[in-house]
Amino acid sequence: MAVPESIRKRAEELRKEIEYHNYRYYVLDEPVISDAEYDALMAELRRLENQYPELVTPDSPTQRIGAPPSQAFAPVRHEVPMLSLENAFTDEDVLDFDRRVRERLGVEHVEYTAEPKLDGLAVSILYEHGYLSLAATRGDGYTGENVTANVKTIRTIPLKLHGSGWPERFEIRGEVFMPIEGFKQLNEWALKHGEKIFANPRNAAAGSLRQLDPKITARRPLDFFCYGHGIYPPEQLPKKHHLLLAQFQEWGIPISPELEVVQTVAGCLRYYRRLLEKRESLPYEADGVVYKVNRFDWQEQLGYIARAPRWAIAHKFPAHEATTVVEDIEVQVGRTGILTPVAKLRPVQVGGVTVSSATLHNFEEVKRKDVRVGDTVIVRRAGDVIPEVVKVIKEKRPLDAKPVEPPDHCPVCGADVVSEPGETLIRCSGGLFCPAQRKGSIKHFASRRAMDIEGLGDKLIDQLLDKGLIKTVADLYDLTVDQVANLERMGKKSAQNLINALEKSKNTTLARFLYALGIREVGEVTAQILADHFRSLEKLMSATEEDLESIPGIGPIVAKHIVTFFRQPHNIEIIQRLKKAGVHWKEPEEATSPKPLDGKTFVFTGTLSSMTRDEAKKHIEALGARATNTVSKNTDYVVVGENPGSKFHKAQQLDITILDEQQFLDFLQQFGAI
Ligand code: IVH
Repeated sequence: MAVPESIRKRAEELRKEIEYHNYRYYVLDEPVISDAEYDALMAELRRLENQYPELVTPDSPTQRIGAPPSQAFAPVRHEVPMLSLENAFTDEDVLDFDRRVRERLGVEHVEYTAEPKLDGLAVSILYEHGYLSLAATRGDGYTGENVTANVKTIRTIPLKLHGSGWPERFEIRGEVFMPIEGFKQLNEWALKHGEKIFANPRNAAAGSLRQLDPKITARRPLDFFCYGHGIYPPEQLPKKHHLLLAQFQEWGIPISPELEVVQTVAGCLRYYRRLLEKRESLPYEADGVVYKVNRFDWQEQLGYIARAPRWAIAHKFPAHEATTVVEDIEVQVGRTGILTPVAKLRPVQVGGVTVSSATLHNFEEVKRKDVRVGDTVIVRRAGDVIPEVVKVIKEKRPLDAKPVEPPDHCPVCGADVVSEPGETLIRCSGGLFCPAQRKGSIKHFASRRAMDIEGLGDKLIDQLLDKGLIKTVADLYDLTVDQVANLERMGKKSAQNLINALEKSKNTTLARFLYALGIREVGEVTAQILADHFRSLEKLMSATEEDLESIPGIGPIVAKHIVTFFRQPHNIEIIQRLKKAGVHWKEPEEATSPKPLDGKTFVFTGTLSSMTRDEAKKHIEALGARATNTVSKNTDYVVVGENPGSKFHKAQQLDITILDEQQFLDFLQQFGAI
């Protein structure tokens, strides 16, 4: 069948476009489209090539696995190619895969393994005589880059295998990734120091592994899970994939704690649903699940097609990123007066949720990312974080795209906008005269972790303010059933419920009350420290800045905010009215002054460079914690220094919070211990 000219052209276009995106993704670590869009381009090209096989050229992106390696690192030829995986997007795709597997094998029942598909980058690691001797990236699947020096800095990867019985020469394969927490910290650090911000943990992992200076890689919070093997003496291979991984684990190689053996395709789909539910709480990003036929003899029988095995498939999760258009940039005023630019977006599905606005954090960010009204942007929504604009696709910017400038006046109350020296944030100076700040402070006061006034949501607060029924939080306790019952969508019953909830909220704790007041920089932890220290509101109110600064965990800035707050007559008036209305708490007793880390246990392993182990122990003991020598499920934190021992491995197996030296120092600092 002759190929119509229009189709030939389209295939040509797709090829060029995909090659370009491969380059952006693999070589520059700077993708300009989301994974989902990339997948769609590939799918379209594959469809055309399937329909008109003569369209397939040897250099078509469908014929290769990744992008060519960059020249920065010496090339390494893979004796066993590093293949890619076929993708499944729906249950039907998975059912088809299973059907093909069973038909080829001529069997009814297939056992699979299921494990998360991590979003990082694949590496192959060679062990010779028990020692890590070579590590390489996947590259184009046949030739990768030598990244041995960098891989060796990843602390969870053993440089020497544990135990015994390993083959003289074998390769493990797995994914290097950056845990979400580490990724956030890295970007926060980068933002402060004016360094490159990474769009997502995958790019951060790739960028870190491909550092020319391994010392930089060493400071990046990289981790690794092994999911397979490369070179391996066949006679020493166990019968099943999961047995091999269990064997690897005994040798000290990290594997995913989520790995499971499942029966039939039904088991695969059940696993998928379970993991999808857990997705947001996983400490790393997973973009899907990988199913593999468990028996190695069956894997061999099934073999490969072009670029992927027939015995495995990746079942993708809905994308975390999507592309859309910024229709407007609004400025929101929060409870503390901070002005936050928010991008109003053309609604788009991200990870199964419709997103129509995304935070731009602050105006420095807007400038740095150069986001303009009319721009096409990549938005991202992951974990519990609010959707954010990752980057602008400059290539798609319309000529009339308008930059936004930070306003001089509060868009809500018109007061002057102020910024403190050295701060990136700008604020409305209107204080509680600004309706937006007033609204925000009332919402905060009523919130669950503050006064916990059940049923007093955003909409109700809006109505109460708009109708003039309340002006400050103290007015809440003067509300009557009749007043509330007259509001929209309220009846006598729900009005009575609200009054009951208000009544119930009067019985609180000093810490909650302090937090509810919304003093700047006084979050829950600080409120608790203040309550523990002063045990009475009156004592706190008469404290000086010096008194406050002498308390561990209270710095000069918070101290100043606290003193300023209690100097404002209208704040004192509100506190008095609240107490008169019946807000009360039991004053904590003197003898049992709790400490922030009471009841916590720590284990130290490896050498710390900034202090001795005894000093480290003294610090945590001063905060109420204990140090013990063995890791058990009752351990809360494991602090890992240079050359850690087996305790580190144990901590990982038990999923205990691990702190490296810097994280430990930050942790101590947070409590004012150093
Ligand atoms: S198995 C021949 N298992 O996905 C089979 N791959 O699209 C090779 N990946 O290059 C891959 N998690 O970088 C496998 N649990 C997992 C994985 C996984 C992430 C990546 C890997 C591979 C790509 C294939």
